[in-house]
Amino acid sequence: MAGNWKMYKTPQETAAFFSSFNPMVVGTSNCDVVVFPPTISICSAAEATRSTQIAIGGQNIYWEKEGAFTGETSANMLCAAGATWVLIGHSERRHVVACENDSQVLKKAQAALAAGLKPIICMGEKLEDHKAGKTDEVLIKQFAGGVAGLTEEQFAQVVLAYEPVWAIGTGKVATPEIASASHKLMREEAAKRFGEEASQQVRILYGGSVKPENIAGLMNEVELDGALVGGASLDPESFAALVRGA
Ligand code: PGA
Repeated sequence: MAGNWKMYKTPQETAAFFSSFNPMVVGTSNCDVVVFPPTISICSAAEATRSTQIAIGGQNIYWEKEGAFTGETSANMLCAAGATWVLIGHSERRHVVACENDSQVLKKAQAALAAGLKPIICMGEKLEDHKAGKTDEVLIKQFAGGVAGLTEEQFAQVVLAYEPVWAIGTGKVATPEIASASHKLMREEAAKRFGEEASQQVRILYGGSVKPENIAGLMNEVELDGALVGGASLDPESFAALVRGA
């Protein structure tokens, strides 16, 4: 169960979140829990979750180790701040704040893995593609241009996320059937490139308007191995309910 906070919560607000959230999920072992605060709040989150089972991740990295790249953060810097995970290729980075493309997604995933970070690599189609029935085409292209460039050893370390752009922050959750069909397609692409066993082992999360009210229906689908949650991860009670419902 992954919580993507996007551009919400200062270091102080982060500490306050975990002082409520930690006791609500203590001893929960049904799923892995990872929270992705803004970069500025990673140290605070890592400190607040020390000696808990909650892991912390960054929302983005740059692929170089260091250099003249104003505003960027390297994988090693995230590790040093206490992160163990990183989101790669979130749709807001692909379509809103940066024009990230599949080859950059691949470079970022490779840099993350080289530094020992576990990447969650996101893909998903925009509303116009969804309406035009081009979901499979988009996913196949994103897979081929990004994830497919990893080695088999690297692929064994990654988690994938299907995030239809039309369902993110819109309140329009994909039906469990729609999500399941896309997950199945991604698994088939993984099987073609990395083999059947690797495709069965990779975890694929669903993201897009996941809430405590709809988690059960989504998690009933065998193809869905977890969720990447935006808005509903900002409140300790609702994120704790999602962790329990996973
Ligand atoms: P949402 O965001 O849950 O607010 O729709 C999901 C995401 O962007 O990861």
